[in-house]
This record gives sequence, C-alpha cells and structure tokens, in this order.
Amino acid sequence: MSDQTKGGEPPVQLWTRDGFMGAISVVTRSTYAPDYLSVEGQHAPRRSVLDRLIPDDRDNPDALATTVATSRLGIRLLVSGRRKPMPYVVRNVEADEIHFIQSGNVKFETDVGCITADEGDFVCIPRAIAYRYAPTGDAMRSVIVESPSALKLSPPAPTGMVNVARDVEYATVGADIPAGGPTKLILKTLDGENTVFTMPHDPLSLGMQLSESVPVWKLNLNKIQVLTYLPEGGPPSQFLSSTAGDVLMFNLSSRPSNRPPIHINADFDEVICYVRGPGAWGGCSEPGTLTWVPKGVIHHGPSENVKEAYQAWLMETRATLRWTPAAIAASQLMETSEYGPHPSELRHS
Ligand SMILES: [Fe+2]
Repeated sequence: MSDQTKGGEPPVQLWTRDGFMGAISVVTRSTYAPDYLSVEGQHAPRRSVLDRLIPDDRDNPDALATTVATSRLGIRLLVSGRRKPMPYVVRNVEADEIHFIQSGNVKFETDVGCITADEGDFVCIPRAIAYRYAPTGDAMRSVIVESPSALKLSPPAPTGMVNVARDVEYATVGADIPAGGPTKLILKTLDGENTVFTMPHDPLSLGMQLSESVPVWKLNLNKIQVLTYLPEGGPPSQFLSSTAGDVLMFNLSSRPSNRPPIHINADFDEVICYVRGPGAWGGCSEPGTLTWVPKGVIHHGPSENVKEAYQAWLMETRATLRWTPAAIAASQLMETSEYGPHPSELRHS
C-alpha cells in the first residue's frame, strides 16, 4: 500500500463541488485515502488501452463506432478504428460529437464540407450535420464524445489559450464528391434505434459555401496551451464546454505543478486519455490509455510535472458513465493513486 505521508505530515483530503469552482472541504487523514482492497459493482475506476478496445468498425466496414460508455444524460463515449471508408452517411440528430484522432489520418466529408484530421486533432461535428469518414492510410483510431448539449470552444480568455485565427481550421466545400447513386443515411438517436433512409444520391455532394460561418472545425491538442498557477500548479482550465455545463474538456498534458491533491470530485466523472509520451504519466505509458474515475470516488492522480513531457486530455462530465460489458471485458480495474492497474488485477493476470 502506498504511503504518501511526507515529513510526518498526514495527507490532506479535499472534497469539492463543481470541479474546483464551488464549495470545498479540506481535512487530514491518518491513512492514504485512495487505497481500496476490492470492489464490486459498476461505479468503480477503470482503465483500458485503445489497442485492446477493438471497435466493430475495424473489421466490419458496415458497423458504426462502438460504444464504450453510456449515461442517463445521453453523454456517451465511443471508439472507432476504421480500415475502410464508411459505406454510409451518419447524422447524429440528438448530440454534438467530438472525434479525437488518436492515430492515423482521417478525411471527414460532411454536410458543410471536408476536413482532413491528423493525430492529436479534435474534430467537432455538431448535431444534425451528416458525415462520413475514412482513413487516408491503412488504419485510424479515434475516441468520440457525444453530448446532447451543444459543445463550443470556451477558453477562459477568448484568445489566451487557443490561437483561434491560426489554429482552428474549418471544413471547406470542394466539388470533388459526385452526386453518385443511392446512398444509405443513418440518423443516430440517443435510444440507439438508428433510422436508415435510402437517398437517391450522395447527400454529401455539395456545390458551394454561401454562409460565412462553418460549424465543423478541428483543433490539435498540442495547439491548446496549458494553464498553471506558479509555483504549485492548481487546477487545469477547460478549452471546451457544453452549453449545459455538463461536459468540460481540458488539455491535461505535462506542466509545471505540484502533484494534484487527494480529492473527491462531487459532481463530475473524470475521463482522461493519455495520448502519448515520451514521458509516462504515472501508471500510464501506453499511447491511447483511457482512464475513468467516477464521481465521488476518491483519487490522487499522477504528477503532471514530467520533464520528458507527455500529452493527455481530460473530459469532466456531470453524467454518471457506465461502461458497456464489452468495454469492461477489455479493461482493468484501476488504482487511483498513479492510475495503474489495481493490485487485484495484477494477481489475476
Ligand atoms: Fe480529480
């Protein structure tokens, strides 16, 4: 068991509302609070590596992206790993989508134009915009966040954290998609009961763009500056949020800071994607490691002050996530100190 007592001082434990924006309580404890011996039930921290979460669309081009986690609020987490282009078009009619490209190069064709995304890009496809995508090479892997509440860039200073003019790129209309023949258009809804239209032509064959604004954009993780309160660090700052405030996204890459405090996040589940090194982030060193700490579960978290540097992002959500049986089977219980596998998992393997 870990012992984080330094210089004889007992560890401090925080309880916070609204992330770090609301009420707070701080106490000391005589023991290291994140330790647990075993757990039964769904509301327990998990970790998985995208290479082991094999999406259905990897081997079956007709499949949709595979759900990793669902919630009563309709916020969902999915993974995709296409090797072939989508043979159909999808329009999510109840949620905005953020596609994070973990690996590969992906060309998106949408109702408002085309955009090619590289590793590390977040691609935003708002509700009711039809799209299809394809890897430009042999393979790709992405994590998709679905949010019924509209998602928008919301750095704390309008241009401080993101250089919007330089680094946010928008879809452009090209004349390279022919009208084509009959095409399947799948309308995705929160109930999972997809509705399939057969259209006489390719719905993504466009003419020209007339409006000034384009709702489909991309931004690379490494173009989002990290905020830190020197010398101790403090909480990270979001670059993206939903209008309902139930989804917040952060760049959680390495930064000068102290280790986070041992804390209980009363209102948010925390999903972190360790994207890549060179440096390890605590117990996470495999590119595309997804970690999840459900709300109300005490955790510490690895040091973010890693000299070799690493890239990671965090999604906080008011939704209570539930991993699907397939995702649970491809994941491990996680300890909440360094975010490695829980010792009980190591005994099993
Ligand atoms: Fe936390």
